[in-house]
Amino acid sequence: MTKTSVIPEGFLWGGAVTSFQTEGAWDEGGKGPSIVDARPVKEGQSDWKTAVDFYHRYKEDIALFKEMGFNAYRTSISWSRIFPDGEGEPNEEGLQFYDDLFDEMLANGIQPVITLYHFDLPLQLAKKYNGFASRKVVDLFDKYARTVFARYGEKVKYWLTFNEQNLVLTNLQYWGVSTDEADNEEALRYQVTHNSFIAHAKAVKALHELVPGGQMAGMVTYMTTYPNSCLPEDVIANMKAKELLVDFYLDVFANGEYPSYVTSNLQRKGIMPHFEEGDAELLKENTVDYISISYYQSQTVSSEKVKEDAIISGITPNPNLKANEWGWAIDPIGLRVSLKDMYARYRLPIFITENGIGVREELNENNTVEDDYRIDYLRNHINQVKLAMEEGVEVFGYLTWGSTDLISSGGQFEKRYGFIYVNRGESDLRDLKRYKKKSFNWYKQVIATNGENL
Ligand code: BG6
Repeated sequence: MTKTSVIPEGFLWGGAVTSFQTEGAWDEGGKGPSIVDARPVKEGQSDWKTAVDFYHRYKEDIALFKEMGFNAYRTSISWSRIFPDGEGEPNEEGLQFYDDLFDEMLANGIQPVITLYHFDLPLQLAKKYNGFASRKVVDLFDKYARTVFARYGEKVKYWLTFNEQNLVLTNLQYWGVSTDEADNEEALRYQVTHNSFIAHAKAVKALHELVPGGQMAGMVTYMTTYPNSCLPEDVIANMKAKELLVDFYLDVFANGEYPSYVTSNLQRKGIMPHFEEGDAELLKENTVDYISISYYQSQTVSSEKVKEDAIISGITPNPNLKANEWGWAIDPIGLRVSLKDMYARYRLPIFITENGIGVREELNENNTVEDDYRIDYLRNHINQVKLAMEEGVEVFGYLTWGSTDLISSGGQFEKRYGFIYVNRGESDLRDLKRYKKKSFNWYKQVIATNGENL
């Protein structure tokens, strides 16, 4: 008897990026500035003005993605292309850009997977309202979401609200929020987190109202954590860290209410966020259709290192694992651990929308990069996805981070992730030409065999 493949027909294969890490054209087409454009450029790193010039070169890139066999590609919409100041009337030129982009993808058999918000708030909303600290920005986000759902609903089925929403507590700047004038910074952090949940739930509601069959995810970055030892203290410390790192968010997305391990703590401290009338019902009635994660690495949690209440301070590297140059531990089994855990808790389909390894690379004399380390990394992770699926987990797509190289989140171009090398340096844009790395043909045959040939 022949063994049937664990990966079903129609599984989504491709890559994932964002608008600001690829598009460039930061002030073209009527686009307003975003908080990313205003970020100071660190010494020796890139600004965001050109990125890989996807705005002008997307046809060439999509032709390469088609050659690899992609049937999905994730990017984000730049809010400030659609609403240059974040409010007022939409900018038709910005709307048309994404119409053309999505049409080009669809004409090449690639479905757009779209993130509404990937840390690039229109700058004006940060200055005027302190970003998502204000409910005004939640309402403006709702308006933006409704505008793009109405416009692209027929072209886009899979949506994500916020990229890696579980970073909100620790990275308020990604939500355009400054803590400078906060009386109680921790309370502000939870209030912004609450506001982001409300914005998320409103977007779920709007999609379901406006787009029949539209599928909305809540997304987290899933850094798997293990107890640093079998000491019961480490086990409980790890459990508590995981609650704050991922479970809190997924519980709200999937169950539509705050978990008691969070509310008990916030009530005890007197910093429960303010719920406006109707918030609890909104969360309850607008749960997600699927769960989406990025996965890169794992860590351990040591009870010894936990400082007071700051449970995340216990995170410490795993001596059993190798890491890349940036200290991100390579752990394919950690991905399977996270998939099994999420599926057991929520029974929702899972879409892996980022996975990959950043490496410093240069073209060799044959104008390619022999990136066997990337092939190994991806092969081992896909293998674990297959094992998780054999063990009953429902995964319906796998997207690598990057397709062409792109600017890393910290502003470095030399941390490369793509199957396609882009000829530019940090500040030297060179000619931005595209070259296939060795992994290009490897991923092509992975997709062609629907994950059989790794
Ligand atoms: C995710 C983000 O955290 O990881 C991306 O969604 C980011 O924006 C990616 O680029 C890889 O991280 P980095 O820091 O290597 O770019």
